[in-house]
Amino acid sequence: AKVRWVPEGIEIDVPVGTDLRTASKEAHSQQGDACGGKCACSTCHVYVVKGKELLSEADEDEEDTLDKGFDIRINSRLACQVRIEREGLVELEISRESREAFFNEHPDEAPPGWREKR
Ligand code: FES
Repeated sequence: AKVRWVPEGIEIDVPVGTDLRTASKEAHSQQGDACGGKCACSTCHVYVVKGKELLSEADEDEEDTLDKGFDIRINSRLACQVRIEREGLVELEISRESREAFFNEHPDEAPPGWREKR
């Protein structure tokens, strides 16, 4: 399956069964994961733009953790809890909280002035 991050346009091919946090790491997208994929932080919050039908459904744990996140939308998911179940194209947008978490963990990769723009 193909995973693409928009608007960046980063793309990666991963085997069915891969979770979206792992895909993100392989693609070096700017997606946070403060708890290391344990469904405890919501910093891997992404919006599924395309390919929802290719993904595993959210369980109660994911819904509960997502409830603590920011700017939750109908297509919000926790990347570490989502597995790709079918071939096809998945498009993701990284939420602001996830990108901020990523920059906190990787300050060298933050664009100049990103803190001021918050
Ligand atoms: Fe913390 Fe996904 S990495 S909930």
